Amino acid sequence: TNFGGRIVSFMVPDKAGKPTDIVLGYDSLNHYLHNNEAYFGALIGRYGNRIAKGSFQLEGRTYQLPINNAPNSLHGGPKGFHNQVWDAKLIDAQHLELQYVSKDGEEGYPGNLTAKVVYTLTDENALQIDYTATADKATVVNLTNHAYFNLNGAGAATINDHLLQINADHFTPVDSTLIPTGVLAAVKGTAFDFTKAHAIGDSLGSKDIQMINGKGYDHNFALNRTAAPGLQTAATVYAPSTGIQMEVLTLEPGIQFYGGNFLDGSLVGKQGKPYAFRSAFCLETQHFPDAPNQKSFASTVLLPGKTY
Ligand code: BGC
Repeated sequence: TNFGGRIVSFMVPDKAGKPTDIVLGYDSLNHYLHNNEAYFGALIGRYGNRIAKGSFQLEGRTYQLPINNAPNSLHGGPKGFHNQVWDAKLIDAQHLELQYVSKDGEEGYPGNLTAKVVYTLTDENALQIDYTATADKATVVNLTNHAYFNLNGAGAATINDHLLQINADHFTPVDSTLIPTGVLAAVKGTAFDFTKAHAIGDSLGSKDIQMINGKGYDHNFALNRTAAPGLQTAATVYAPSTGIQMEVLTLEPGIQFYGGNFLDGSLVGKQGKPYAFRSAFCLETQHFPDAPNQKSFASTVLLPGKTY
């Protein structure tokens, strides 16, 4: 849909060939308008994930963003890209181009920013998402997609049986408000070690302070990238009962693995199915959260004349 550039459905065959909708969402626009705090299927911008206290400095000026996830700013603010109507152009049956012009000062961010996203459904059954953006003033940008998946089908009880592999030896631990501490921590020997595939639910009972801060998995993983340019595999998820497997490839340095810890059954989605606690996962490819305030993280600054 052109509302938030949201993916509302994604049908794939399971091991018996039965078409299965693996993306959470609603049956009507009205539901998206009134229950949008979960960001179902949405394009996220101008800045994916959190900026500490909604404040950052750029070229000697301090910018204040709306605080919509106290005490921080989350996913571009309440009127972020997920809540905007994008201009849509169907290029052909396999390519949809969406464009949104975010005004100078909108949700506190500097510069007019033109964002363009092309969704492509490839002949290999891949969904490819190409993001570009340009700005007329220095700004910060971190775009992603917030689709929630359940590979047993949207509305199935849990994702904790899914086998997950994340190609990351390190992750970015967070404080109790989910802002990275700035440290890159080794996953080895922790609940965050997904270097070999195993069930998401295996370590959910861990007393690791990171599991307590995240209320489960809600963390950015620093991807192991080789020097080779181009897409590299970030994560693989497999649901044994349906045989559906998803691979995530990206150019980005990080991926947010969010295990649906804020779902509680109160949002009722497609076909009247409630979305229970941890009944979906997001794998949001991105630059690291709070990068505008963290000198050691790769920069998310976009300068005029450059293309994101
Ligand atoms: C964040 C979660 C947040 C969720 C919103 C994720 O990207 O990491 O902390 O609750 O988005 O649905």
